[in-house]
Amino acid sequence: MRLKNKVAIVTGAGAGIGRGIAERFASEGASVVVAEIDAASGGSAQQSIRDAGGEAIFVPTDVSDEAQVKSMVQKTLDRYGRIDILCNNAAVLLIREEARAHELTNEAWDRTMAVNLRGYWLCSKYVIPAMLRQGGGSIIHVASPTGLFGFTRLTAYSTSKGGVVGLMRAMAADYAPDHIRVNAIVPGTIDTPMNAIELSDPEMRKHFAEIAPARRLGTPKDLAGIAAFLASEDADYCVGGIFTVDGGLTAV
Ligand SMILES: NC(=O)c1ccc[n+]([C@@H]2O[C@H](COP(=O)([O-])OP(=O)(O)OC[C@H]3O[C@@H](n4cnc5c(N)ncnc54)[C@H](O)[C@@H]3O)[C@@H](O)[C@H]2O)c1
Repeated sequence: MRLKNKVAIVTGAGAGIGRGIAERFASEGASVVVAEIDAASGGSAQQSIRDAGGEAIFVPTDVSDEAQVKSMVQKTLDRYGRIDILCNNAAVLLIREEARAHELTNEAWDRTMAVNLRGYWLCSKYVIPAMLRQGGGSIIHVASPTGLFGFTRLTAYSTSKGGVVGLMRAMAADYAPDHIRVNAIVPGTIDTPMNAIELSDPEMRKHFAEIAPARRLGTPKDLAGIAAFLASEDADYCVGGIFTVDGGLTAV
């Protein structure tokens, strides 16, 4: 129980990677706030954590909306009195709208940035004062290989993820003296609802499995271990790191 007595907020914890991380945090003893835009999946994540004997509350939240983020953080403090861990995970990949730069709509660009980058910053902005008062914390940003290398026809998503790496480094430098550790996790191709359209094609599924040296797709469970580690005291000297969990995708 590495996270006993700790309080964690996980954004986008209703599905995919965020849900896997939220469930692991709870099984490691943390009280978990499921900050999720989708009511059905948020409620279901809360229930599955409670059914497994864990502690969780679902707080409906659109991370791109400042008032909702402020209220979610306040509800967390009202309920649990502290915040030790923030996992910024909620993001959108508008796959049908993604395009090369000159073909991309302003709407697709703005929505992607609002959730994937502004959302990470807003959640950090309102959680950090509590961590400063407490004398420390751990913030984990879920990034992406698309923010580190060039991928075709993913202009808005890739740019937002590159921004996440910049945000992570700026925050790591600023808050390390306050014992707030900020790190990034970089998942490879993970079998989640975000990739449902592409992975529903058996050929594409095979392709994405085979381009990773591990020769398989990742699952949310593959990300949960590193998130629990970074959230725990075991990671006390991990500051500003980029931790890939991608079956070797970016090593080759
Ligand atoms: N799946 C992959 O292959 C992969 C690869 C690299 C990085 N990532 C990153 O991992 C993270 C999780 O991805 P996933 O595949 O689990 O995604 P997903 O789409 O399967 O799940 C994302 C969750 O976030 C929620 N969400 C979306 N917009 C929100 C908002 N505005 N406010 C609050 N919640 C919101 C969704 O409802 C959903 O429950 C994202 O940051 C993504 O960019 C995923």
